[in-house]
Amino acid sequence: MNRIFLSAILFILSLSFFSCNGNKKDNAETTTDSTTVAEEVKEVNVYSHRHYESDKNLFEEFEKQTGIKVNVVKASADELINKLEMEGQNSPADILITVDAGRLHRAKAKDLLQPIESEVLFTNIPAHLRDADNQWFGITKRARVIVYDKEKVKPEDFSTYESLADAKAKGKLLIRSSSNVYNQSLLASVIANSDEGTAKKWATGVVTNMAREPKGGDRDQIKAIAAGEGTLAVTNTYYFAQMLNDTDEANVNAAKKVAVIFPNQDGRGTHINVSGAAVTKYAPNKENAIKLIEFLTSKEAQEVYVREEMEYPVRTDVEMAQTLKDWGTFKEDTLNLSKLGENQEKAVIIFDEVSWK
Ligand code: FE2
Repeated sequence: MNRIFLSAILFILSLSFFSCNGNKKDNAETTTDSTTVAEEVKEVNVYSHRHYESDKNLFEEFEKQTGIKVNVVKASADELINKLEMEGQNSPADILITVDAGRLHRAKAKDLLQPIESEVLFTNIPAHLRDADNQWFGITKRARVIVYDKEKVKPEDFSTYESLADAKAKGKLLIRSSSNVYNQSLLASVIANSDEGTAKKWATGVVTNMAREPKGGDRDQIKAIAAGEGTLAVTNTYYFAQMLNDTDEANVNAAKKVAVIFPNQDGRGTHINVSGAAVTKYAPNKENAIKLIEFLTSKEAQEVYVREEMEYPVRTDVEMAQTLKDWGTFKEDTLNLSKLGENQEKAVIIFDEVSWK
């Protein structure tokens, strides 16, 4: 009798052992018991569109401080959003990181994110740099600015985005393709600040004024000014600042030929955007995800973004890199960045209509 009882106990124990192991193995694919498993393995899974060395270092620092392992899947924002959609509630992802608020908004619209209550995030991040429903949070800030050939252009002639569509910019302008999300957000901000008709007229003027067909990234537009292909370009601030501080002398020399204009200082302010983070709807390690996003907005992490990537911090108590200090402060467009996402589709249609390649 005793032996039978003992065998039964052993059988039950072995079953529970295998089911426990099974859960561990399936951690990436199941949400059942995920909290228990997450606590055991202490990890957080990040889908990221940022590919910077500083992110890697910050994740390592977070691991050191908390013992929570950060696993990263890198791809474009669109690919990551598609992946989240396909995986549904079986997704192992806890955090989505993208380099444009519009993409975060799109993930929210597809019901792939969840709202987060975090006093730390509410304190560290100004309201216009995060989602009104607390579904995504800006972690770094960048401005999309005009740069110009210091020898050939009077900056007062091009003090607004609108001036890039004026006849005086004809044949001078270098700007990348309309498939680029930064340009889609820029046009989305023009739509949000005026209307689609005005935005279409502006985009038509910009296409007319292009010095060449759009090609390359933001850095390539600055290099093209240095090479004499045009005298005006549009770039994100960190690309220009990184070139000025590059170890490659050719990049530094090219960047030194141009100077920055923060557009629309007498009006709505310069268009800004964020790279940002969100907790995914079915995050198996939600608490760890919140901890990591909070860490990325800590003073310590924000200083790394400023120092190593030349991005603007989202919080106001962080020491600026010298190049950013040299440029001075500027008035930024405080349009809620959700509007970028709302208007990006309209922007893409306008780009097609005006044949902005
Ligand atoms: Fe970028």
